[in-house]
Amino acid sequence: MKKNSVLIAPSMLSADFANLKEEIEKIEKAGADLLHLDIMDGHFVPNLTFGPYGVSCIKKYATKPLDVHLMLTNPEDFIKPFADAGANMISVHIEAVLHIQRTIEEIKNLGIKAGVALNPATSLDTLKYIISYIDFILIMSVNPGFGGQKFLKPVLKKIEECKKICQKENPECLIEVDGGIDLSNVKEIRKAGTDIVVSGNTIFREKDYGKVIKKMRDLCR
Ligand code: DX5
Ligand code: ZN
Repeated sequence: MKKNSVLIAPSMLSADFANLKEEIEKIEKAGADLLHLDIMDGHFVPNLTFGPYGVSCIKKYATKPLDVHLMLTNPEDFIKPFADAGANMISVHIEAVLHIQRTIEEIKNLGIKAGVALNPATSLDTLKYIISYIDFILIMSVNPGFGGQKFLKPVLKKIEECKKICQKENPECLIEVDGGIDLSNVKEIRKAGTDIVVSGNTIFREKDYGKVIKKMRDLCR
């Protein structure tokens, strides 16, 4: 994965699911670098979305990498099904996994980029013994479960601290930030050290996705 320019990852959670094929084509044409897919189980988060079958349907039309964010209890039980469905990146929540290194290894052995996701109030200390194994960190900037929530301000400092940790422990590791990112805050979020910007509502509520993505990218320069 490239590190110098920002990567924009639209969250398909905010797309029109009745027209998913067109939405995928539209968002890729608009300049998406990755497609962020939010998988929710109604246990780890108070919402439900779709499973491996949904991912495999998206894979039929997507040409960009699929970034699969597992908001599940026991995500280790679902790595293989999501790999078979076509995931290119998989993140698991550290709060949900008992043997995180084993799970990360399983993801990587399947040839997939492996990430650890952290809820807003989860300390960066939890990364200490796993950071050297991972390809990316997903920092949640809202409590996971829904699109369209407000960015939690204390997370800005967390991104800055995370950046320092990465520089020291694993300079190749990318920082992805997810939740409540809009045109008013994307600049400082990028400046704090974000490599991958996830954005759902801000992009999909507009008619012209390309215009918003371009604005985001310009603000990130
Ligand atoms: C929240 C999800 C996010 C969310 C982002 O649980 O992980 O990916 O859909 O959407 P916005 O940008 O609308 O906060
Ligand atoms: Zn997400």
